[in-house]
Amino acid sequence: MKVSIIGGGGLVGSCAAFALQCGGKARELALLDVNENLVAGQALDILHGGPSVADQVIATGTYEQHIPTSDVVCITAGLRRKPDESRLDLINRNTDLFVQILAQINAVGLKSSAIVLVVSNPVDILTYVAAKKLKIPNSQVLGLGTQLDSIRFCSLIADNLKVPPTQTKALILGEHGDSMVPIWSSATVGGLPLEKFANWNHNVGNQIFTRTKGSGAEVISKKGGAGFAVGIAIRDVIESVILDQRRILPVSTVQAGCYGIRDVALSVPTVVGRAGSLDRLELELWPKELQGIRSSATALRPTLDTILKRIGA
Ligand code: 2OP
Repeated sequence: MKVSIIGGGGLVGSCAAFALQCGGKARELALLDVNENLVAGQALDILHGGPSVADQVIATGTYEQHIPTSDVVCITAGLRRKPDESRLDLINRNTDLFVQILAQINAVGLKSSAIVLVVSNPVDILTYVAAKKLKIPNSQVLGLGTQLDSIRFCSLIADNLKVPPTQTKALILGEHGDSMVPIWSSATVGGLPLEKFANWNHNVGNQIFTRTKGSGAEVISKKGGAGFAVGIAIRDVIESVILDQRRILPVSTVQAGCYGIRDVALSVPTVVGRAGSLDRLELELWPKELQGIRSSATALRPTLDTILKRIGA
């Protein structure tokens, strides 16, 4: 399977490419970026590691050379927010660039079976815009959504409880942004509820969720922008697509009734396979969790309406 990464020269795009190289499941990685020298450097650096990890084709080039033959197109291009900026604040600066990228994709054409994964922020808004503008079904347009937040959430729970991160299962749903929702009702470690762990309590949980929600800004303030964990989250989604794993992942898609939410993109438990979003699962939630996801939809709506008017969608 071939994966093209638009914005492959940047921090997120190059980390995604490196994560996919380490995963070894994608046969070809094409890195595309307006900064041709930078993306050539990223691709060369990745190429050099190939002999010790996977037999893959690592390429750079133009939309024309790579988009029509890609099974997955990952869009990471866009400006990063400042520590005190919300992801929604980014919308004005990123929308024009993002719409241009979509127009370039439409100009060269996608495979009818191609899956587009939106990472650029605000990811829920831009996932909806991509679904509107691209000539593929909504089910083939995914946003990274709260997959990144969910693995951050699990990492901080595991770090606090001193338990294996891979056995820590906890979801964040809703907006990849300020209104994201922690799903405590189904959080477990090794299949056990968190309450089974002696040093777990409500306050610890609240502190961990607060830190999870602020993790993007925390990393930006320390190192300018997140890359490694975003790359891992992107690999989680893309490998579920290219291997048709049908993993249940909290990715952003245009909703059509799950939890009573329609016509906005946000993250709910989604079956992710080669055909994209195969199903959305209405996991049983506590009332406040359900309300939280619906509040996310409400929080996204004004920005979405403004952007759709602005781009004439
Ligand atoms: C983050 O939370 C880039 O939105 C991404 O780091």
